[in-house]
Amino acid sequence: KRLLPMTAMFGLFLAGCGREDLSVLRPQGPQAEMSYGLMELSISIMIVVLLIVFTIAAYVLIRFRRKPGQNEIPEQVEGSIKLEILWTVIPLILVVVLAVPTVKAVFAAGDDHANDKDAIKVKVTGHQYWWEFEYTDYKVTTAQDLIIPVGKDIAFELETKDVLHSFWVPSLSGKIDTNPAGTINRFSFSAPNEGVYRGKCAELCGPSHGFMEFKVKSVSEQDFQKWIDSMKAPVAVLPEDPALAEKFKAACLTCHAVGDQGINNAPNLTGIGSRESIAGILLNDDTREDGAPIEENLKTWLHDPQSVKPGNLMPNPKDLGLSDAEIDGIAEYLANYKLD
Ligand code: CUA
Repeated sequence: KRLLPMTAMFGLFLAGCGREDLSVLRPQGPQAEMSYGLMELSISIMIVVLLIVFTIAAYVLIRFRRKPGQNEIPEQVEGSIKLEILWTVIPLILVVVLAVPTVKAVFAAGDDHANDKDAIKVKVTGHQYWWEFEYTDYKVTTAQDLIIPVGKDIAFELETKDVLHSFWVPSLSGKIDTNPAGTINRFSFSAPNEGVYRGKCAELCGPSHGFMEFKVKSVSEQDFQKWIDSMKAPVAVLPEDPALAEKFKAACLTCHAVGDQGINNAPNLTGIGSRESIAGILLNDDTREDGAPIEENLKTWLHDPQSVKPGNLMPNPKDLGLSDAEIDGIAEYLANYKLD
C-alpha cells in the first residue's frame, strides 16, 4: 500500500530534474564534472555490491531452502575466520577506492584562484532574500544576475549581511556557505559554455529561502567587457517625468542605487531591464511558461512585494506614499532601463 505513494514521490522527484539549467546531472565545467565523476564512481560501486549481495542471497535462499520431508535441524555453523577477513578487507578496499579521488577532488575544489591575476574577482553577499555581486577589480556592483566571461576562472569571496545562506549553481559547482562578516569563504568555478545557469540559496534562511534564486550568465569575453563598461557608466538614468524622478529618488534611492545615485543597501537597479529575472524568480521571458515581460513582473513585484517573497525587507511602495499610477510609472521606467 505504501509503495504507490512512494513511487509517485520518486516520479515527482525525477520530474524536478527536467529543467535544463538546475541539475547536477548535467555538469558544465571542471568543478561540476569532478563532483559528477565522484557520484558516478560511488554509484557504480554501489550497484556492483548490490548485484553481488543480491545474487548470493538469492542463491542461498534457493539452494538451501527446506525440502519436503526435511525435518531435522540443519548443521549448525559458528563463525568463519576466512569469511570475517574477506568481508572486512573488501569494504576497506572500496573505502580506499572512494577516498583517493574524493580527497583529490576536495583539494582541487579548494583552489580559490584568489591570487590568480587572470581570474575575475567577485564578492558575493547573501541577503534575505537576494544576492549581491561586486566586481572588486572593476568597482561594479549588481544584483541577482551574475555576468561572467565564458571559460574564465571566477574567484569568489563570499559573506552574508544577515543569516547563513549557501551559494549554489548546481550545473557549475558545489555549494558554499556565506557566513556573517569577518568569516569569508572563498572558492572558484568557470563555465565552459555560454548560457544561463540557475543558482539557488541552499541553506534554510527564512520564509522565502525557496525563492532566493539568481542567474549566472556566461557570455563571450567581448560581451563581458561591454557589460562592465556600461555598468561603469557613471550617470544614472532617472524617470523622464521630473515629478516621478523626485518620487523615485525619495522612495527608492534611499536603499537602492542606479548608476552614480542612491546607495547599495538593497539590490542595485542599474540596467535592471536587461536582467534575466525580477526578484530572482519572476522570469523576464514571455516565451517560457513561467515567464512574463519584465514590465509585468515589475508591476507584480512593486504593487505587493510580500506576495512574491514573503518576509523580504522591501517596504510596500504604497506605504511610502506612492500612488498606483506612480508605481506603474516606476515599473515602466525600470523595465526600459536597459544596458546598451
Ligand atoms: Cu538564503 Cu536560503
